[in-house]
Amino acid sequence: MTSRINHIIAFLSVILTLTGNSNHKKQSTVVNQSNDIIDQKVDSLMALMTLDEKVGQMNLYNGFWDVTGPVPKEGSEKTKYDHLRKGWVGGMLNVKGVKNVREVQKIAVEETRLGIPLIIGFDVIHGYKTLSPIPLAEAASWDLVAIEKSARNAATEAAASGINWTFAPMVDISRDPRWGRVMEGAGEDPYLGSKIAKARVHGFQGDDLKKDNTIAACAKHFAAYGFAEAGKEYNTVDIGTSTLFNMVLPPFKAASESGVKTFMNSFNDLNGIPVSASKYLQRDILKTKWDFEGFVVSDWASINEIISWGYAKDKKEAAKIASLAGSDMDMEGHVYIQELVNLVKEGVVEEAIINDAVKRILKVKYELGLFDDPYKYCNTKNEMERIGSKAHLEDALDMAKKSIVLLKNETQLLPLKKEGQKIALIGPLAADKNSPLGSWRTASEDHTAISVLEGMQTYRGNALEYSKGIDLIIGKTSFVKEVNINTTNRDGIKEAIEVAKNVDVVVMVLGEHGFQSGEARSRTQLDLPGLQQELLEAVYKVNKNIVLVLNNGRPLAIEWASENIPSIVVGWQLGSQTGNAIAQVLYGDYNPSGKLPMTFPKSIGQIPIYYNHKNTGRAKNVENNVFWSHYIDEENAPLYPFGFGLSYTQFAYKNIIIKSSNFSINDAVNISVEISNIGDYDGKEVAQLYIRDLVGCVIRPIRELKGFELVLLKKGETKTLEFVLTKKELGFYNNNGDFIIEPGDFEVYVGGSSDANLKSEFTLK
Ligand code: NOJ
Repeated sequence: MTSRINHIIAFLSVILTLTGNSNHKKQSTVVNQSNDIIDQKVDSLMALMTLDEKVGQMNLYNGFWDVTGPVPKEGSEKTKYDHLRKGWVGGMLNVKGVKNVREVQKIAVEETRLGIPLIIGFDVIHGYKTLSPIPLAEAASWDLVAIEKSARNAATEAAASGINWTFAPMVDISRDPRWGRVMEGAGEDPYLGSKIAKARVHGFQGDDLKKDNTIAACAKHFAAYGFAEAGKEYNTVDIGTSTLFNMVLPPFKAASESGVKTFMNSFNDLNGIPVSASKYLQRDILKTKWDFEGFVVSDWASINEIISWGYAKDKKEAAKIASLAGSDMDMEGHVYIQELVNLVKEGVVEEAIINDAVKRILKVKYELGLFDDPYKYCNTKNEMERIGSKAHLEDALDMAKKSIVLLKNETQLLPLKKEGQKIALIGPLAADKNSPLGSWRTASEDHTAISVLEGMQTYRGNALEYSKGIDLIIGKTSFVKEVNINTTNRDGIKEAIEVAKNVDVVVMVLGEHGFQSGEARSRTQLDLPGLQQELLEAVYKVNKNIVLVLNNGRPLAIEWASENIPSIVVGWQLGSQTGNAIAQVLYGDYNPSGKLPMTFPKSIGQIPIYYNHKNTGRAKNVENNVFWSHYIDEENAPLYPFGFGLSYTQFAYKNIIIKSSNFSINDAVNISVEISNIGDYDGKEVAQLYIRDLVGCVIRPIRELKGFELVLLKKGETKTLEFVLTKKELGFYNNNGDFIIEPGDFEVYVGGSSDANLKSEFTLK
């Protein structure tokens, strides 16, 4: 316990009480969630702090174990320990396990003058030891309850391991599958992205941060990181106000409204200003317009990078600009700790700026209950019992099944028959136990996923033959190294052909290795990497009954497969339970219901391609000449649109009803629609509602998702669904960043994807 600090604060609180500044007693010992009381405690504590100690709170060091970025020259282990003991460190990242966390926490609590506990951060992105599907895959479930549960389980495991702050959720909207980090987000749509942001924040933080199984969340990367030019990592971003406010910011706003405790800024610039230096984003929008009360952490050394961008001449200037702009904590940049004290002493940065940042940071620590018990996350019993529990594994399986998207099932090869079918499993990723864990695997040991081979082997009624065919990767893979793709060794192709010849159905598991997407994994090709396309075509020559199971961290451009292969399943990287989930879907024990959260392009030249684009002045070929918005060598349509995904059954939508055709802008517009399961299986459908605002003072997208519902329908069953559109859904941001609602005509579409064609209309007067 930080008894020293509690005693001092107790003393100060008594004085406050006596002087009439406080109407509560015993606040030093009684845990009280009230904001006022926390504010008073923070103020009392800050009154005791030296300038060095305050700046220390703004310093976040990488720990002594894992590394998730380029290691800076300064900050040897010795310096870090030294700073820890002086109370010049506010938090550490990449420290995990009760033993390690306790080690650094003990120094902060027992060896520093004031004993202020550290906040311990980690990238708990899609699970801790038990891994759920990558976030993009989870988004394909459109199942907010399951997504929230997945984050809840991740928080429970991480908290049991000493961690009290996750650098998640990533809520960056992106329209560019070349950008490797699309795997970490919720896809291209701000409406779906906002719902998922809320679910994830609540999942991590729960209702009470004082509990020992809830942790602070971090909405990242604020902002516009997903709009990196040409999909190239850490690249420049140039977008207008309308795109910023209508596309980029909504999920961040949703996270803020959901009470997220922290934000992380980003590596990109926005219209010429590096984001860590952006007062516009961090102070004007986030802290002023949205009243965000938590703190902003920089991304890894992003404050130093203000210099590389050419926006500051040296570290001193970078520290000045970033602190004034509202970056409260410096992640492994060493800039604040080196420069800020002097900047204040010289009068360049007002101490009020430091006070504001420190107050925000300390407040979160209080809210987490770290002052009541800095070791509350350091419980070895919890560590033993809660990490990798059976219940979490079951939930991970459930989430994985819900994340799978069926793209094609033309000849009904799927579901596979449980008996009497000869099946071959082929492909470099079929028996892979490592790739399905994805790129952010936190505390999961390598090679621990259930492979597709293992999953399918549990269905013993069929003969299952297996051939790897080729290798996808040469050598070892890891989070910090480039992957090495096999482009020359074709030795196994012959064997694969022989195996494929003699079976009824071939299941091929192809795609990207888990380490081909994620941070710093931008691609210029979206094909099946290496020799996989060659393998696919070679097998196809001898057996056309192929089920292609993709492993992917992003949309892929697989036009040939889409034209020729009868069944295609998007299997993403589904985490610990990958093989079980895929097998259950392939054998029909689970009817797939996932829908794409990002458009799949036909070719790379179409990128950026997304459903909610503007109409343009020449959107259609009306005169049968060349003068319209198109390509001469490719269609405009994507391979698979946003929101698309099949089921083993079929759904039909009809009777879309809007009771009136005219509404005032204050009215709620109620829309009902009938949906029927007209196929042969029970199934679940994600019914989606889109609007089009036909005329606006800023051009409106041709479609915008504004509602969805997961509906379970038995074979032959019909249900009526109700959707409501209010100002929130019908309004938009103008070019001043103001939210407005305009009278005019609207179209409404309901169906199972963004190209739904069941339509109705109404007018706002
Ligand atoms: C850099 C990444 O951009 C960010 O998302 C992550 O949280 C930090 N590294 C810490 O690992």
